[in-house]
Amino acid sequence: MFDIHKIRADFPILKRKIHGHDLVFLDSGATSQKPESVIKAMDDYYRNSNANIHRGVYELSVEATRLVDEARKKVANFIGARAEETIFTRNASESINLVMYSWGRDNIKSGDAVLVSKLEHHSNLVPWQELCREKGAELRIIDVDENGMLKMSDGEEKTFSENGLKVKLGSFDQLVDDKVKLLAVTGASNVLGTTPDLAEMIKKIKVKAKAVTVLVDASQMVPHMKVDVKSMGVDFVAFSAHKMLGPTGMGVLWGKKEILSKMRPFMFGGDMIGEVKITGATWAELPSRFEAGTPDIAGIVGLGAAVDYLEKLGMDNVRQHEKELMKYALEKMTPLKEEGLITLYGPKDVEDRGGALPFNVTGIHAHDAAQILDNYGIAVRSGQHCAAPLVTSFGVPAMVRATFYVYNTTQEIDYLIEKIREIPKVFA
Ligand code: ALA
Repeated sequence: MFDIHKIRADFPILKRKIHGHDLVFLDSGATSQKPESVIKAMDDYYRNSNANIHRGVYELSVEATRLVDEARKKVANFIGARAEETIFTRNASESINLVMYSWGRDNIKSGDAVLVSKLEHHSNLVPWQELCREKGAELRIIDVDENGMLKMSDGEEKTFSENGLKVKLGSFDQLVDDKVKLLAVTGASNVLGTTPDLAEMIKKIKVKAKAVTVLVDASQMVPHMKVDVKSMGVDFVAFSAHKMLGPTGMGVLWGKKEILSKMRPFMFGGDMIGEVKITGATWAELPSRFEAGTPDIAGIVGLGAAVDYLEKLGMDNVRQHEKELMKYALEKMTPLKEEGLITLYGPKDVEDRGGALPFNVTGIHAHDAAQILDNYGIAVRSGQHCAAPLVTSFGVPAMVRATFYVYNTTQEIDYLIEKIREIPKVFA
C-alpha cells in the first residue's frame, strides 16, 4: 500500500542537507519534487529518442511522436478524458489564458457576468478581470467566511468599480442569475486548502444560469485526488505538471470536444495548421489546433512518467495520506494556537481541505518566520501565495504556508512544530 519509506527513497532530492539539516520539503503547493522515474524518463528521451515530432518519417522522429502520443493517452486516462480533448500547454496559467482568449473573447459580451471565487489564484482571477474590463462584462466574486469556506447564501453584497471594471462580491446565491455565462472556480485553494463542493455548485448554477460554461482550476486538485472530468459536469479543466511530480513548463487543458472544436486557435504557427496558402490557412484537428510550435517533448514524457507514478500509488491512497497528515498537523498545532503563538487559517474539517496549511506566528512577519524555518532545513512558502485578495482579506499582509504531498511524514510535522516554537525566541 502506501510505504512512505519506499516512496521517499524514490525522490533523490530528499537526501539533501539544507544548512546542515535534513531537507523537510513542505512547499509542494508551489512545486512538487520529482521521483527518479520522472527524471530518468526525461533523461532517456534526450539520450536515446530526441527528435522533433510530427515532422519526420525517420525512426527517431516516429519514436518521439509515439512517446508524446502515449503520454497524452496516459494523462487523458488519468483524468477520465479523451486524448483529443487533452491539450498540452506550458502551465495552468496558459491553459486558463487559452480559454480566456479563444473562448472568452467570442462568448462573453457586454452585460454578461463571469463568476469566480475569492479563493482564486491570480491565474484564475486576473484573466477574467481583463476579459470583463475589455467586454464590459461584470466580474462577480463569491466571498469566503472566516474559515475560508465559500459563502453559499446570505451575507453582505458589495460592489466596486475601478478602471472600467465592475465587480460584485457576495454569496453564491446572491451572485447567480442568468447573466452568468462563465463559472471559473478552483477545485482546491492553493492558500487555504479549501475544496469547494463543486458538484453542489455546478448542480445549482445550471438551474439559475442555463447557458453557463464551467472551468475548474484543478492545479491543486489533480495532483492530490482522483479527478474524473466527465462526471464533474464541467467544460474546461486546467492543471500543471510540476505540482504532480512532473516537470515545470508543462500544463494541461482539458475541454469538451464540442466546445474546443468551435474555438479559434490561441496561437498560430507550426503544427496547428491544416492547409496553408499565401492568403490564409485552415486549422488542424484537435488537439494540434491548440499546440502551435515544437512542444516540450521531454516535459510531456516526464508528465507521462509522473502519471505512471501516481497511478501506481493510487489517487485514493494519495488523498488518504494527505488527509491523515492534515488531521495530524491540525491536532498538533492546536495547542500552539491556544497559547496564542500562532494563527491558523482555513477550513476546520479535513474533508473540506486539501494539503495546504497556512499560518502566522504572532507578531512575526511570514517572511521572517519562513527564513528562520529555512535555517532548520524546512522549506515553506511565505507571502501572498499568488492570491493577494484572499490573503489580505484575513487582515494580514502575508501568511506562512506548509503544503503536504506523498513523501511527507508526521515526523516532519513534529519537527516543523518544534521549530515554530523556536521562532519567537529569535526575536526575544
Ligand atoms: N501556485 C503556486 C503556489 O501556490 C506557485 O505556491
